[in-house]
Amino acid sequence: MKYDFAYFQKSADYVRSKIDFTPEIGIILGTGCGPLADEVENPIVIPYGDIPNFLVSTNPDHAGKLILGTLAGKKVVCMSGRFHYYEGYEFEQLTGPIRLFKLLGVQKTIVTNAAGAVNPSYKPGDIVILKDHINFMGIAPTRGHNVDEFGRRFFDVSDMYTKALRDIAHECASRSTLTIHEGVYMYMCGPQFETAAEIRAIHIMGGDCVGMSTVPEALTAAHCGMPLLGLSLMTNMATGVNVEKVDHNEVNATAASVEAPFREYVKDIVMHM
Ligand code: HPA
Repeated sequence: MKYDFAYFQKSADYVRSKIDFTPEIGIILGTGCGPLADEVENPIVIPYGDIPNFLVSTNPDHAGKLILGTLAGKKVVCMSGRFHYYEGYEFEQLTGPIRLFKLLGVQKTIVTNAAGAVNPSYKPGDIVILKDHINFMGIAPTRGHNVDEFGRRFFDVSDMYTKALRDIAHECASRSTLTIHEGVYMYMCGPQFETAAEIRAIHIMGGDCVGMSTVPEALTAAHCGMPLLGLSLMTNMATGVNVEKVDHNEVNATAASVEAPFREYVKDIVMHM
Protein backbone atom coordinates (compact mmCIF):
# COMPACT_ATOMS: atom_id res chain seq x y z
CA MET A 1 0.00 0.00 0.00
CA LYS A 2 1.24 3.46 -0.93
CA TYR A 3 0.72 5.58 2.18
CA ASP A 4 2.14 3.22 4.79
CA PHE A 5 4.25 4.15 7.82
CA ALA A 6 7.52 3.89 5.85
CA TYR A 7 6.17 6.43 3.34
CA PHE A 8 5.81 9.09 6.05
CA GLN A 9 9.04 8.04 7.80
CA LYS A 10 10.95 8.87 4.64
CA SER A 11 9.92 12.54 4.90
CA ALA A 12 10.76 12.67 8.61
CA ASP A 13 14.16 10.97 8.17
CA TYR A 14 15.17 13.64 5.67
CA VAL A 15 14.08 16.56 7.89
CA ARG A 16 15.70 14.99 10.96
CA SER A 17 19.00 14.76 9.07
CA LYS A 18 18.98 18.57 8.75
CA ILE A 19 18.42 19.44 12.43
CA ASP A 20 20.04 18.66 15.78
CA PHE A 21 17.01 19.33 18.02
CA THR A 22 13.49 18.05 18.59
CA PRO A 23 10.77 20.58 17.77
CA GLU A 24 8.17 20.79 20.52
CA ILE A 25 5.53 22.81 18.72
CA GLY A 26 4.32 22.50 15.12
CA ILE A 27 2.76 25.50 13.38
CA ILE A 28 0.93 25.47 10.05
CA LEU A 29 0.58 28.96 8.61
CA GLY A 30 -2.33 29.66 6.30
CA THR A 31 -3.13 32.45 3.86
CA GLY A 32 -1.76 35.77 5.08
CA CYS A 33 -0.20 34.23 8.19
CA GLY A 34 3.13 33.36 6.52
CA PRO A 35 5.16 36.34 7.83
CA LEU A 36 5.17 34.79 11.31
CA ALA A 37 7.79 32.40 9.93
CA ASP A 38 10.20 35.36 9.61
CA GLU A 39 10.32 35.52 13.41
CA VAL A 40 11.82 32.06 13.79
CA GLU A 41 15.35 32.46 15.16
CA ASN A 42 18.32 30.51 13.82
CA PRO A 43 16.08 29.13 11.09
CA ILE A 44 16.81 26.04 9.10
CA VAL A 45 14.76 26.40 5.92
CA ILE A 46 13.82 23.37 3.83
CA PRO A 47 11.82 23.84 0.59
CA TYR A 48 8.95 21.35 0.44
CA GLY A 49 10.25 20.12 -2.89
CA ASP A 50 13.43 18.78 -1.19
CA ILE A 51 11.50 16.59 1.27
CA PRO A 52 10.87 13.06 -0.04
CA ASN A 53 7.19 12.06 -0.20
CA PHE A 54 6.10 15.56 0.82
CA LEU A 55 3.78 17.73 -1.25
CA VAL A 56 4.48 20.99 -3.03
CA SER A 57 2.24 23.99 -2.37
CA THR A 58 0.70 25.22 -5.64
CA ASN A 59 -1.00 28.25 -4.09
CA PRO A 60 0.82 31.44 -5.19
CA ASP A 61 0.24 33.05 -1.75
CA HIS A 62 1.94 30.18 0.09
CA ALA A 63 5.74 30.14 0.40
CA GLY A 64 6.14 26.35 0.43
CA LYS A 65 8.91 25.86 2.95
CA LEU A 66 9.50 24.20 6.27
CA ILE A 67 11.22 26.41 8.85
CA LEU A 68 12.75 24.93 11.97
CA GLY A 69 14.20 26.96 14.82
CA THR A 70 13.21 28.88 17.95
CA LEU A 71 10.08 31.02 18.36
CA ALA A 72 9.14 32.71 21.66
CA GLY A 73 11.71 30.54 23.41
CA LYS A 74 10.31 27.24 22.07
CA LYS A 75 11.71 24.86 19.48
CA VAL A 76 9.30 24.90 16.57
CA VAL A 77 8.71 23.48 13.13
CA CYS A 78 6.73 25.86 10.99
CA MET A 79 5.04 25.20 7.66
CA SER A 80 4.90 28.40 5.67
CA GLY A 81 2.24 27.39 3.18
CA ARG A 82 -0.09 24.42 3.39
CA PHE A 83 -1.81 21.96 1.08
CA HIS A 84 -5.48 22.02 0.14
CA TYR A 85 -7.75 19.43 -1.42
CA TYR A 86 -8.67 21.92 -4.17
CA GLU A 87 -5.06 21.79 -5.38
CA GLY A 88 -5.80 18.26 -6.62
CA TYR A 89 -4.11 16.10 -3.98
CA GLU A 90 -5.63 12.88 -2.75
CA PHE A 91 -7.24 13.31 0.63
CA GLU A 92 -4.87 10.76 2.17
CA GLN A 93 -1.88 12.87 1.11
CA LEU A 94 -3.13 15.73 3.27
CA THR A 95 -2.15 13.71 6.36
CA GLY A 96 1.53 14.32 5.49
CA PRO A 97 2.23 17.55 7.45
CA ILE A 98 0.79 16.43 10.80
CA ARG A 99 2.35 12.98 10.45
CA LEU A 100 5.70 14.64 9.74
CA PHE A 101 5.28 16.73 12.91
CA LYS A 102 4.40 13.64 14.91
CA LEU A 103 7.44 11.73 13.68
CA LEU A 104 9.71 14.70 14.43
CA GLY A 105 8.56 14.57 18.07
CA VAL A 106 6.17 17.55 18.07
CA GLN A 107 3.93 17.60 21.18
CA LYS A 108 1.34 20.24 20.20
CA THR A 109 0.27 21.92 16.98
CA ILE A 110 -1.22 25.28 16.00
CA VAL A 111 -3.00 25.59 12.65
CA THR A 112 -3.96 28.97 11.29
CA ASN A 113 -6.13 29.83 8.33
CA ALA A 114 -7.96 32.61 6.55
CA ALA A 115 -11.73 32.20 6.61
CA GLY A 116 -14.97 33.93 5.73
CA ALA A 117 -17.17 35.16 8.59
CA VAL A 118 -20.62 33.56 8.62
CA ASN A 119 -21.60 34.76 12.10
CA PRO A 120 -22.97 38.27 11.47
CA SER A 121 -21.50 39.59 14.73
CA TYR A 122 -17.96 38.97 13.47
CA LYS A 123 -15.97 41.55 11.51
CA PRO A 124 -13.10 41.26 9.01
CA GLY A 125 -9.86 41.24 11.01
CA ASP A 126 -11.37 39.29 13.94
CA ILE A 127 -9.88 35.98 15.10
CA VAL A 128 -11.86 32.84 15.87
CA ILE A 129 -10.45 30.19 18.21
CA LEU A 130 -11.89 27.02 16.72
CA LYS A 131 -13.85 24.91 19.16
CA ASP A 132 -15.16 22.43 16.60
CA HIS A 133 -15.78 21.91 12.90
CA ILE A 134 -18.40 20.64 10.50
CA ASN A 135 -16.90 18.62 7.68
CA PHE A 136 -19.24 19.50 4.82
CA MET A 137 -16.97 17.49 2.51
CA GLY A 138 -17.84 14.30 4.34
CA ILE A 139 -14.55 12.67 3.37
CA ALA A 140 -11.74 11.70 5.82
CA PRO A 141 -7.95 11.95 5.39
CA THR A 142 -7.46 8.67 7.28
CA ARG A 143 -9.71 6.69 4.92
CA GLY A 144 -8.28 3.60 3.25
CA HIS A 145 -5.61 1.48 4.89
CA ASN A 146 -5.29 2.49 8.56
CA VAL A 147 -1.70 3.29 9.53
CA ASP A 148 -1.80 1.63 12.96
CA GLU A 149 1.53 3.18 14.01
CA PHE A 150 -0.23 6.58 14.07
CA GLY A 151 -3.58 5.63 15.56
CA ARG A 152 -6.61 3.40 15.63
CA ARG A 153 -9.05 2.90 12.78
CA PHE A 154 -11.94 4.42 14.78
CA PHE A 155 -10.93 7.38 16.90
CA ASP A 156 -12.48 9.98 19.15
CA VAL A 157 -12.72 13.61 18.01
CA SER A 158 -14.45 15.15 21.04
CA ASP A 159 -11.35 17.12 22.10
CA MET A 160 -9.86 17.55 18.62
CA TYR A 161 -9.60 21.33 19.16
CA THR A 162 -7.97 20.77 22.52
CA LYS A 163 -9.68 22.54 25.43
CA ALA A 164 -6.43 23.09 27.35
CA LEU A 165 -4.93 24.91 24.35
CA ARG A 166 -8.12 26.93 23.76
CA ASP A 167 -7.91 28.06 27.39
CA ILE A 168 -4.37 29.35 26.77
CA ALA A 169 -5.54 31.12 23.60
CA HIS A 170 -8.33 32.85 25.57
CA GLU A 171 -5.90 33.94 28.27
CA CYS A 172 -3.57 35.43 25.62
CA ALA A 173 -6.58 37.13 23.96
CA SER A 174 -6.85 39.45 26.96
CA ARG A 175 -3.40 40.84 26.09
CA SER A 176 -4.17 41.28 22.37
CA THR A 177 -5.63 44.27 20.56
CA LEU A 178 -7.51 41.87 18.28
CA THR A 179 -11.17 40.94 18.74
CA ILE A 180 -11.14 37.22 19.47
CA HIS A 181 -14.14 34.86 19.46
CA GLU A 182 -14.62 31.12 19.79
CA GLY A 183 -16.61 29.36 17.09
CA VAL A 184 -17.27 26.51 14.69
CA TYR A 185 -15.46 26.17 11.35
CA MET A 186 -17.25 24.84 8.31
CA TYR A 187 -15.04 23.03 5.81
CA MET A 188 -15.81 23.54 2.13
CA CYS A 189 -13.91 22.20 -0.88
CA GLY A 190 -13.28 25.41 -2.81
CA PRO A 191 -11.51 26.82 -4.75
CA GLN A 192 -14.64 28.84 -5.48
CA PHE A 193 -16.04 30.87 -2.60
CA GLU A 194 -19.46 29.74 -1.41
CA THR A 195 -22.85 30.64 -2.80
CA ALA A 196 -25.14 32.82 -0.67
CA ALA A 197 -27.49 29.82 -0.28
CA GLU A 198 -24.61 27.66 1.01
CA ILE A 199 -23.69 30.35 3.53
CA ARG A 200 -27.33 30.55 4.74
CA ALA A 201 -27.30 26.76 5.16
CA ILE A 202 -23.96 26.87 7.02
CA HIS A 203 -25.37 29.50 9.39
CA ILE A 204 -28.46 27.36 10.12
CA MET A 205 -26.25 24.31 10.70
CA GLY A 206 -24.16 26.14 13.32
CA GLY A 207 -21.08 27.23 11.39
CA ASP A 208 -19.55 30.56 12.46
CA CYS A 209 -16.91 30.74 9.77
CA VAL A 210 -16.03 28.96 6.54
CA GLY A 211 -12.83 27.93 4.84
CA MET A 212 -11.06 25.45 2.58
CA SER A 213 -8.40 23.98 4.89
CA THR A 214 -7.57 22.88 8.45
CA VAL A 215 -10.06 20.00 8.75
CA PRO A 216 -7.78 17.37 7.12
CA GLU A 217 -5.02 18.45 9.50
CA ALA A 218 -7.31 18.50 12.56
CA LEU A 219 -8.61 14.99 11.80
CA THR A 220 -5.08 13.69 11.26
CA ALA A 221 -4.04 15.26 14.58
CA ALA A 222 -6.95 13.61 16.40
CA HIS A 223 -6.02 10.27 14.82
CA CYS A 224 -2.44 10.40 16.14
CA GLY A 225 -3.36 11.96 19.50
CA MET A 226 -1.77 15.34 18.79
CA PRO A 227 -3.23 18.26 20.81
CA LEU A 228 -4.32 20.99 18.40
CA LEU A 229 -5.20 24.66 18.45
CA GLY A 230 -7.03 26.10 15.42
CA LEU A 231 -7.06 29.85 14.77
CA SER A 232 -9.08 31.40 11.94
CA LEU A 233 -8.49 34.90 10.72
CA MET A 234 -11.72 36.43 9.39
CA THR A 235 -10.55 38.02 6.15
CA ASN A 236 -14.03 38.84 4.82
CA MET A 237 -17.72 38.47 5.49
CA ALA A 238 -18.89 35.31 3.71
CA THR A 239 -21.04 35.59 0.56
CA GLY A 240 -24.40 37.20 1.24
CA VAL A 241 -23.77 37.98 4.94
CA ASN A 242 -23.56 41.67 4.20
CA VAL A 243 -21.71 41.63 0.89
CA GLU A 244 -22.66 39.91 -2.34
CA LYS A 245 -19.17 39.27 -3.69
CA VAL A 246 -16.09 37.82 -1.99
CA ASP A 247 -12.83 39.09 -3.42
CA HIS A 248 -9.50 37.29 -2.97
CA ASN A 249 -7.72 40.68 -2.92
CA GLU A 250 -9.81 41.61 0.13
CA VAL A 251 -8.77 38.31 1.77
CA ASN A 252 -5.10 39.22 1.34
CA ALA A 253 -5.58 42.90 2.28
CA THR A 254 -7.38 42.08 5.56
CA ALA A 255 -4.77 39.47 6.44
CA ALA A 256 -2.02 42.04 5.83
CA SER A 257 -3.81 44.67 7.96
CA VAL A 258 -3.82 42.50 11.12
CA GLU A 259 -0.59 40.66 10.40
CA ALA A 260 1.40 42.42 13.16
CA PRO A 261 -1.06 41.90 16.08
CA PHE A 262 -1.81 38.37 14.86
CA ARG A 263 1.89 37.54 14.86
CA GLU A 264 2.20 38.87 18.45
CA TYR A 265 -0.85 36.90 19.53
CA VAL A 266 0.46 33.62 18.13
CA LYS A 267 3.89 34.22 19.69
CA ASP A 268 2.26 34.84 23.08
CA ILE A 269 0.36 31.55 22.74
CA VAL A 270 3.54 29.68 21.76
CA MET A 271 5.32 31.12 24.80
CA HIS A 272 2.57 29.89 27.13
CA MET A 273 1.96 26.49 25.56
N1 HPA B 1 -14.88 31.21 2.08
C1 HPA B 1 -14.01 30.18 2.05
N2 HPA B 1 -12.73 30.30 2.30
C2 HPA B 1 -12.26 31.52 2.59
C3 HPA B 1 -13.10 32.65 2.64
C4 HPA B 1 -14.48 32.48 2.36
O1 HPA B 1 -15.29 33.43 2.38
N3 HPA B 1 -12.32 33.70 2.96
C5 HPA B 1 -11.06 33.23 3.11
N4 HPA B 1 -11.01 31.91 2.90
